[in-house]
Amino acid sequence: MTLFSESSEIFQKNKNITQQISELKKQILYYQKEYYENNTSKISDTEFDALFHELKNLEKQYPKYLTNDSPTQKIYTTQQIALIKSKHLVPMISLENAFQNSDLFDWEERFLKILEKQEITFPKNAEPKYIVEPKFDGLGISCVYENGKFARAVTRGNGEEGETVSQNVQTITDYKANISKISEDNNFDIFEIRGEIVMKKSVFTELNVSLEKEGKKTFSTPRNAAAGSLRQLDSNITRERKLSIFFYETPLTTAHSQFKTYSNTLKFFDEQNISYCKDYYACNSITEVISAIKNIADMRENFDFDIDGAVIKVNNYKLREKIGVTGHHPRWAIAWKFPAIQVQTILESIEWQVGRTGVLTPVAYLKDVMIDGVKINRATLHNADYIEEKKLNIGDTILLERSGDVIPKILKSITTENKENNTGKEIKSEILIPNFCPVCESPTVKKTEEVALRCSNSNCPQILKGKLEHFVSKKCLNIKGLGTEVCDDLIEKKLIIHFADFSKIYTFTEKDWSEIKNFKLKSIKNVQSALEKSKTQPFWRIIHAMGISGVGEKTSKTIATHYENFLAFSHISERSLENLQNIEDIGEKTAQEIINFVENAEHQNLFIQLENIFQTNIQKSTINNNDSHIFSSLLENKKFVITGSFENYSRDSLKEIIENNGGSCMSAVSKKTDFVLAGEKAGSKKTKAEDLGVEILELQQFLELVGL
Ligand code: IVH
Repeated sequence: MTLFSESSEIFQKNKNITQQISELKKQILYYQKEYYENNTSKISDTEFDALFHELKNLEKQYPKYLTNDSPTQKIYTTQQIALIKSKHLVPMISLENAFQNSDLFDWEERFLKILEKQEITFPKNAEPKYIVEPKFDGLGISCVYENGKFARAVTRGNGEEGETVSQNVQTITDYKANISKISEDNNFDIFEIRGEIVMKKSVFTELNVSLEKEGKKTFSTPRNAAAGSLRQLDSNITRERKLSIFFYETPLTTAHSQFKTYSNTLKFFDEQNISYCKDYYACNSITEVISAIKNIADMRENFDFDIDGAVIKVNNYKLREKIGVTGHHPRWAIAWKFPAIQVQTILESIEWQVGRTGVLTPVAYLKDVMIDGVKINRATLHNADYIEEKKLNIGDTILLERSGDVIPKILKSITTENKENNTGKEIKSEILIPNFCPVCESPTVKKTEEVALRCSNSNCPQILKGKLEHFVSKKCLNIKGLGTEVCDDLIEKKLIIHFADFSKIYTFTEKDWSEIKNFKLKSIKNVQSALEKSKTQPFWRIIHAMGISGVGEKTSKTIATHYENFLAFSHISERSLENLQNIEDIGEKTAQEIINFVENAEHQNLFIQLENIFQTNIQKSTINNNDSHIFSSLLENKKFVITGSFENYSRDSLKEIIENNGGSCMSAVSKKTDFVLAGEKAGSKKTKAEDLGVEILELQQFLELVGL
């Protein structure tokens, strides 16, 4: 759909910018979610920082596209953890990064200027100017003491507040229950020490060996293992995991006025038996700092814990106070980040794994190689295109990179590169792309517009597992007690073979349930009562549970308000196409997906079963407040004018989207208008916007802006 002339440079430019911004936001949020909620770093910190800066720069250049939900505007908050939150006494901020020597000289120059303005210099006494110490690759932790007694331990969280993990921290050997008098005349009511929780490399290796023996999932890095071990509701598990802590900060100013310098604080740690890293360096110039960093880098392999750099801190607390902090970082410290470690190994074989959506992902099996104390023998190859692009062959020597706790990445094939250099000939990958699903042996398919290779069998056990998990999930039928393992077991034990069998869970007897691993009478009773309870769910949840492509929670709610009951929905046919498309949020593609889904004979079977189970309970949905559309302040204070007509969207529905996101609509274009949302046959309003220099958005750009 082209609404504007292709030659319109402004249009092309704006389109690119909104697309870029929306793409960057999506990527950043994805990586933040992986990092904070799944404890995995899919990209290196450097790559992440680059994305963040790119977004920041674009938003600075084009403030109109700056929305409240941008990751640049808020600290990422995790939603999934059930632990109690505590506010930090002082925000836990992060450090700015340095990658080369000049970054360190620039850093010193920057804060010296600040001090110069205040006519302050480094103290002339013998105390060192800087302390350089390892940068631990673990999880930040704050331990608060009240009248010398341990009060609580809190994770970094979003920097402002974190999760209270006191009980778990109390199981760690390095935990200190009491801190005795700080000095004769000074015993703080409140004292705080901050540090990093790590899992020693030796402990990590041991843990993975025993997890593997028990047939359990292993951890990819010591950091992930530490995170998984700390965020446990059962502190006995944390105890068994043998974590360690290195403390490196006393953030409260009361402590600063007592200790005067960081080196004194470390002495205090020593006297009090507070765990800290003794391999720190006192330096008096940036040149000395550089050689201290080199020493730490040389010792990296010898440390029994992962480090990903060094931290350089101004020693004197008074100076730190004068130097100050920016919004996100202290100006008095900087982190030196080690470059990613690269090693060579052999690509021994490839296995295609089927995911729950039916996508086949190639996994590379590598000859064991150690990177920074961690044994690596696997790497993801993403998809067939990636293998082709890197021209990988079994038996090749490949270059592998692991930076921080990033999942190892294959950079290139050294064998292919050498061959190409010698012969000048283009080497093709000989790795075969599977024609059949490794799980159910049905043919694989690849849609032209997709890179992903998929299993074509909708009843492939792997796909069924994913569908069943969705069906019973919290946002669908919300059947408690049916987690991933139970769903998998139901499919593996062939209690469920087809999608149409999903309704069977309502008719299973105690004997059926007892086939499930670890299912005793109590769990069976719990599931049966959860199933009973689910029968009163509103019918939008059944629509959502079907997992129809393009029909998420919001669309399911909208559909439910347009049909009398589930029966009416299950009888829609090709003739309903137009009706469906008239429903807001539903485009032609989704409408067709719904019809194809509903008309499928197997699905019809399931509907009949469900109608019997849910009986009269699945009447027209009355959407209560909790279930209503998601409101946001994404477009707060943004004024829109809508003009022209739009494919799949009425003007009223667009207005509603704008208002639901905090924006407002005006009828006439003026200088105060932020955006003109222009559809087909947009006339004078669009021209006026062009004259006034008001931003014009095409539908696609608008949808991207609001994340639809
Ligand atoms: S001092 C104001 N020292 O690295 C921040 N942090 O990006 C003062 N870290 O959030 C932190 N080792 O979790 C400091 N020796 C060390 C550290 C260290 C690791 C972590 C810490 C911080 C992050 C900085």
